[in-house]
Parts: sequence; C-alpha cells; structure tokens
Amino acid sequence: MENELQSLEAEAKKSLSNLEDVKQLEEFRIQYLGRKGQFSTIMRSLGSVPAEDKPRLGQLANSVKSEIEKLFEEKSQNLHRQSAQASSGSGPDLTLPGRCPAPGTLHPITKVMQETCAIFESLGFSVAEGPDVEVDYYNFEALNIPAHHPARDMHDTFYVGDSVLLRTHTSPMQARVMESQDPPLRVIAPGKVYRCDSDITHTPMFHQVEGVLVDKGISFADLKGILTVFTQKMFDKDLALRFRPSFFPFTEPSAEVDIACVMCNGVGCRVCKKTGWLEILGSGMIDPEVFKKVGYDPDVYSGFAFGLGIERIAMLKYGIDDIRLFYENDQRFLSQF
Ligand code: PHE
Repeated sequence: MENELQSLEAEAKKSLSNLEDVKQLEEFRIQYLGRKGQFSTIMRSLGSVPAEDKPRLGQLANSVKSEIEKLFEEKSQNLHRQSAQASSGSGPDLTLPGRCPAPGTLHPITKVMQETCAIFESLGFSVAEGPDVEVDYYNFEALNIPAHHPARDMHDTFYVGDSVLLRTHTSPMQARVMESQDPPLRVIAPGKVYRCDSDITHTPMFHQVEGVLVDKGISFADLKGILTVFTQKMFDKDLALRFRPSFFPFTEPSAEVDIACVMCNGVGCRVCKKTGWLEILGSGMIDPEVFKKVGYDPDVYSGFAFGLGIERIAMLKYGIDDIRLFYENDQRFLSQF
C-alpha cells in the first residue's frame, strides 16, 4: 500500500507536468482526483488494511492527495490564463507575416522635371535655381515690363507686398543668371510658378523650366534645333512642332511652340480646346533691352530663351486630361507612374 501510494504520487506529478491544455487537465482530474479516480480507489482499500497500520497509511494517503490537488490547482490556473489570452487575441501571433510598408513613388511632375533637366544637361546646359518669392524688378522690370505695361495683366499675379510677389514665371531667372555670369552661357532654371487661375488646364501653382542660351552669332535656327531635339527625346518620337508668332516684352521675335495633341492625334478634343495642338512653351530671341539691363552688349551677343510648362508635358506624356489630378494627392492615381 505504501509503495502503491508513492508510485501513484510520482506518476501523477509526471503527467501533471505534461498537461498542455484545458481538455487534458479535465482528463487528469477524472483519472486521479474524481470519485472513481485512483486516489478514491486507494482510500477505499484502506478499509481492509490491518487496524494498527490504518492511522499511518491514512495520514500518508491524505498528504499525498492534498499535495497533488495543490499542484493540480496551480497548473489549472496557468492553463486557463494561457487559453484566455489566446482566444482574446491579446497575445502576439508570432507566425503572422510582418506588415510591409508601401514603397513611395516619385510624383509624375517630379519625374518629368528630372527628365527635362537631364535632357538639357545632355545638351550642355547647367542648372540654376532662384526664389519663388520674387521682387517686382526681376519678375517684370528687368524683363522689359515696366509698371503699367499691359503685359502685366496677363500674369494674374499673387502679390505678397507692394513690390514683392510670387513669381508668375521662371523668366526672372534669365535676368538673375545674366547679371551674375558673363556670356557665353547655357542655363536652365526649373521651379514652381504661381498664377491666380484654375480650370482643367490651369492650376494656381505649376512648374516651368526656363532656358537661356547666349553667345556670339546665336540665331532663331539654334532655338528651333534645341527645342526639336528636346521634344524628340522627351516623347521618344518625331512629334510635329508648330512655332506660332507671339509676343513677349523680353523676346523679339517671339514664338509660342505647340506640339500635336497626342490625346486626339490632332483631331481636336477637350484638352486641346478643339485645335489639335497643345501649347508647351513660350520662347524667342532675347530682347536687346534685356541685354542692356544686365550689362551685355547687344551688338556683340545674341541669345534665345524659352519657358516650358512641365504639367502640360506630363499630361501629354502620360495621357492625362485634367491637370488638377496632379494635385489631389490620390495615391491610386500617383502610384501609377
Ligand atoms: N515666361 C513666359 C511665360 O511664362 C514664357 C517665355 C519664356 C517666353 C522665355 C519667352 C522666353 O509665358
């Protein structure tokens, strides 16, 4: 009987430590501690042991049983706590795959801007940058647009102060660059420009890339050549270009340059306002008045300038028919490029 009790104790302790869930816990309870369990069976057999051994064996049986009951209670608490955690989901599931952060993409305008700069850099131009908040002098005066000149009306200017404004074009960089460098020079100036204007082809902020080239003997043919190479490289094909006579106070002669509307193949649509052409830039031979203001001798030097609209180019390149899509920050739109 004593041996039986000892081996039952050892066996019970071993199987307690192997229990893994609440279900096994209940099986253990029935097998050892239940009314028909092994301890009950031993207790019952106490009735048939000799009277002189009864007190000693009875005591031993009780202490073994209460020891096992105590261990069972501890185990039961542990297993119940574990299963509650698992079912409430509060414990981390280490087998789940990690969350992958969505990789960002370059904004389509940034991409076209970078591509534009790369093409002109391959043609020998260097890059200069200037302020978005500009003074009246560089935005207008230095470009042969004095106060009260009717050309100022075309610009829908945002004024910050009396003679301080958000630049309406990148052309102020023509004057800034020529003031700080002697010819010959080839410079482009990319950046943001601002006009109080908004519809499917205009946003109050948009991007331009200004180009300036000054040397001896530069002619309109050089301007045409550079712009033709640029459009071929940008659109990867021989696109029709149209030079339309125009007027800018800082160039003479001046031309606006259109490319065939790739949206409708020149047939006429909403984007090209039924003309079949889309204006992508203004250009011309730099006016002698501008040269005089920056101290260049117009009898020795000549040069051309152009100002490209980056949004227009991006719309044509990617087939986008509403300029405002660029600035609504819809990830589904932006992540396509
Ligand atoms: N600055 C002019 C515009 O924004 C474009 C231009 C640039 C025209 C350079 C001629 C020369 O409309």
